[in-house]
Amino acid sequence: MRGALLLLGVGASAVLASPQGGGYGGYGGYGGGGDDDHRTSTTPTSTTAPPQTSGTTTTGNVSSSVLLGMNGDTVCTPYLCVGALVNGTTVQYTLQSLGKADLGWMAMGFGQTMANSPMVIMWPNADGSVTLSQRQASAEVMPTVVPTPPRIATKQPALSSLTGSNPKLVYTIPANTDTQQGIIWAFGSQRPSSAAEDATLLQHVLSGPTKLNLGNTLAADSRDPTNPISSLSGSDTPPPSAGVSTPLLPYQKMIVAHAILCVVGFLAILPAGALLARWLRTFNPIWFKGHHLLQLFISLPIIVPGVALGFAAVHKAGAEHLSDDHMKWGLGIFVLYIIQLMVGEFIHTIKPKSWSVDKRRPPQNYFHAILGLLIIALAFYQVRTGYKTEWPKQTGRGEISNAANIVWYVWVVLIPVLYFGGLVFLRRQYKQERMTRPKHRDETSESEEMRPRYRDSPDHS
Ligand code: HEM
Ligand code: HEM
Ligand SMILES: *[C@@H]1O[C@H](CO)[C@@H](O)[C@H](O)[C@H]1NC(C)=O
Ligand SMILES: *[C@@H]1O[C@H](CO)[C@@H](O)[C@H](O)[C@H]1NC(C)=O
Repeated sequence: MRGALLLLGVGASAVLASPQGGGYGGYGGYGGGGDDDHRTSTTPTSTTAPPQTSGTTTTGNVSSSVLLGMNGDTVCTPYLCVGALVNGTTVQYTLQSLGKADLGWMAMGFGQTMANSPMVIMWPNADGSVTLSQRQASAEVMPTVVPTPPRIATKQPALSSLTGSNPKLVYTIPANTDTQQGIIWAFGSQRPSSAAEDATLLQHVLSGPTKLNLGNTLAADSRDPTNPISSLSGSDTPPPSAGVSTPLLPYQKMIVAHAILCVVGFLAILPAGALLARWLRTFNPIWFKGHHLLQLFISLPIIVPGVALGFAAVHKAGAEHLSDDHMKWGLGIFVLYIIQLMVGEFIHTIKPKSWSVDKRRPPQNYFHAILGLLIIALAFYQVRTGYKTEWPKQTGRGEISNAANIVWYVWVVLIPVLYFGGLVFLRRQYKQERMTRPKHRDETSESEEMRPRYRDSPDHS
């Protein structure tokens, strides 16, 4: 049991807490030429390949690119790359699809959260035109058009390209003072219903925060910010597939803490308390003290902050509370857990006469056992939606490593097997309880083995 707990603890923290890309797939975005740490990810493959990029002249060698020495940066996310080229007092941004999904729309925003960041959203229309829409959202809801944005963006249809497997959409905007520029990005696979700036957008496939270094000087091995899928040397350099991590944002750290505490509380402590009861209750009255300690005094200080951190993360991210299944179930499971604590205290403190005299188990005791198992079962489901759906959805950091799946699968088999295995003691338990009923008192007294171990009533324990 201890070993198993340890496995979960280690597994959970390795999978969820890893500060490096491994745990998360590191999809926040990989720095392009701009981030010195990540330079190596854009190694040029060949300087002799024919240049195919708009920013490179056709003389066929690197040093002739007009972009060399200019300032700019490129960052790639799982669905698109964002290139920024600083040209005097304007910045030219290129959003280029990686071709992983059909292009519906692409967007970026200036800020690190979806809420309250000015956004530039672009999409191609059926007639070959491009729409640019400047919007903002006060939370994680569909952003609405801002008629007078702080900086006005101008679409550049001539620089855009709608054909091929890597369509790109380009706009320019007056530069602000950013050098390290925090941005958010989003990719939608469904084309908005019309070319109107205020057309309805279907929710993004994926989104997230990342950053650009506008102070970066473009070198030959930099990605081409005007054609981000390739490098300035002209070679098509697919974005690195191994994620280079960007640091977790504060709200994401809160989610990690939320996940660890909830996993430990709901899937380690609570099952431990249930197993303890199941396996020990017919052998040693200490089971009750252990159960009480684990389920109340240990789990409560882990679960309450764990769930609170879930709410706090949603608040910090500017997202809407209880806006999806994970959030609603999460609250529901927490309420059930509190009810369970009260039921536990109740069945322990208030023993109906049927129990204290006849030793007949009252229905509320069965209810407590069943609700306890239900909470643990729901928590298994909840943890799965948490790491599998909710994390990628809320952070845009891509799927969590498969190790989480493996730990989850092992656990979801192991815990029920251990619990239901412990039901072999049920006959022994009922026998012990039967033996202590008044009419059996005299028959039982000598049998040490059948002395009741169910001693949780205050006057006994
Ligand atoms: C039994 C365990 C869990 C419970 C009871 C639980 C409960 C909750 C609750 C109550 C919320 C916030 C609801 C709101 O503000 O409306 C939440 C949010 C969230 N939880 Fe969990 N959770 C659990 C496990 C996990 C796990 C394992 C992960 C894995 C990463 C996770 C990821 C998230 C995320 C990403 C959010 C949204 C945060 C945001 O939007 O910023 N949860 N959870
Ligand atoms: C949310 C936390 C809790 C969970 C998940 C939980 C779960 C369980 C489970 C599954 C059983 C049945 C064990 C078996 O197979 O025999 C059980 C029994 C029991 N629990 Fe809890 N429990 C929790 C909290 C508490 C608390 C706070 C108390 C208060 C003292 C308590 C008192 C008891 C008692 C007296 C029994 C024996 C019931 C009977 O079979 O007559 N539990 N618990
Ligand atoms: C690149 O082209 C320029 C002028 O077109 C030439 O002077 C230079 O030697 C070339 N460099 C290489 C590495 O081929
Ligand atoms: C920079 O801006 C000027 C004026 O708008 C334009 O003519 C020039 O082509 C731009 N340079 C690049 C490399 O895009």
